[in-house]
Amino acid sequence: MSLARTRDVASVPNDLESFWVPFTPNRAFKKSPRLIARAKGMHYYRTDGRAVIDGTAGMWCCNAGHNRDPIVAAIAAQAAELDYAPAFQFSHPKAFELASRLAALAPGALDHVFFCNSGSEAVDTALKIALAFHNVRGQAARTRLIGRERGYHGVGFGGISVGGIVNNRKHFGALLAGVDHLPHTYNREKQAFTRGEPEWGAHLADDLDRIVALHDASTIAAVIVEPMAGSTGVLPPPKGYLERLRAICSKHGILLIFDEVITAFGRLGCAFAAERYGVEPDMITFAKGVTSGAVPMAGVVVSKAIYDAFMNGPEHVIELFHGYTYSAHPLACAAGLATLDVYRDEGLFERAKKLEPVWADAAMGLKGLPNVLDIRTVGLVAGIDLASKPDAVGKRAYEAMEKAFGDLGLMIRVTGDTIALSPPLIASESEIGEIFDKLAKVLRTLN
Ligand SMILES: Cc1ncc(COP(=O)(O)O)c(C=O)c1O
Repeated sequence: MSLARTRDVASVPNDLESFWVPFTPNRAFKKSPRLIARAKGMHYYRTDGRAVIDGTAGMWCCNAGHNRDPIVAAIAAQAAELDYAPAFQFSHPKAFELASRLAALAPGALDHVFFCNSGSEAVDTALKIALAFHNVRGQAARTRLIGRERGYHGVGFGGISVGGIVNNRKHFGALLAGVDHLPHTYNREKQAFTRGEPEWGAHLADDLDRIVALHDASTIAAVIVEPMAGSTGVLPPPKGYLERLRAICSKHGILLIFDEVITAFGRLGCAFAAERYGVEPDMITFAKGVTSGAVPMAGVVVSKAIYDAFMNGPEHVIELFHGYTYSAHPLACAAGLATLDVYRDEGLFERAKKLEPVWADAAMGLKGLPNVLDIRTVGLVAGIDLASKPDAVGKRAYEAMEKAFGDLGLMIRVTGDTIALSPPLIASESEIGEIFDKLAKVLRTLN
């Protein structure tokens, strides 16, 4: 019997069964799928044609809005000109051009870019560069990596090891050895209903001193944090916290990595969150907004000191044994260049900064609605904690997402019983109002 499946294409049922949908309850989804057929600007359009206002920029990525003409045109032109060039030992001009543009946007001494295809790859790349950096400088004992509780750094083994979300870790074995975690920075009693960075919590960075005392600095390679923790439910950093982390890392020769997969490209009103906070890490990971979500692309921006440390040895020998077939893919580079043009020409980072108070006011308007326990805002981001149903954590927010998409034409994201909002940076004031009016309606009808 042949193992080959020979059914002709026409006989294959399109019954939703074959696709294992990621980070999704598949059985519930397939009973009541949420399918999107097209998008433009601030809107998605369902398969029945109905418009859905996008409160989440896809998944924190479509910062320039959807299907923007210059980005679409750049991708189409690139596909016609050069589909692919080998990523190792060869390259193509737009890869260098995009790296230069990103280096110019990045803070301070961060001026070399290593390209990847997803945030998870960017995180694993940054962790590997940190380990290799110490190695090439003769400090090979620096192998420990420090993450943070409630951190999200994607789904690679490196990322889930330094990450701090239990469901993403608990089924996947022992993970990387030699990882420790800082405490998370959220305390509802001290911080509830804060706009921007909370006053309380800078001292939590000092826990790094405890970790250093426990393991000794000579064994620690790097600390990785999201400047604002997004996927765990929107936790802006307490005032002064990132500065303290930076000071402790510098004191002990530990590299500081900011995972800016969602905070880069205007989300917090600046090109990078590092700029908003005036704190310069040694590496920044980015993804998502670099192409406004149009083509997968990600990367790590590293300081000159890190890059230079590798540029030793015979010149024909590879300096870093790492890379991906699709690092700096031509379509992604074309999309990235066109996206950076849109951000610059339309002043979208500045626009996000200007809209921040409008956004915060609109979000805080939900205070007092049924089941709302806390609201946090920063940049064009909001996190809204709902009370969990007894014995059904996550169900209330899930129902909110279903209702918003199905009945009101609003896209929201949920994590546990927290709703996270992060609209495209092109949102108008009236569209911000529409997003929160619709969400208020949803919250009033939930049981
Ligand atoms: C901070 C952070 N790091 C890494 C990732 C992983 O990115 P990807 O899903 O592209 O692998 C995400 C995704 O949301 C993220 O928010």
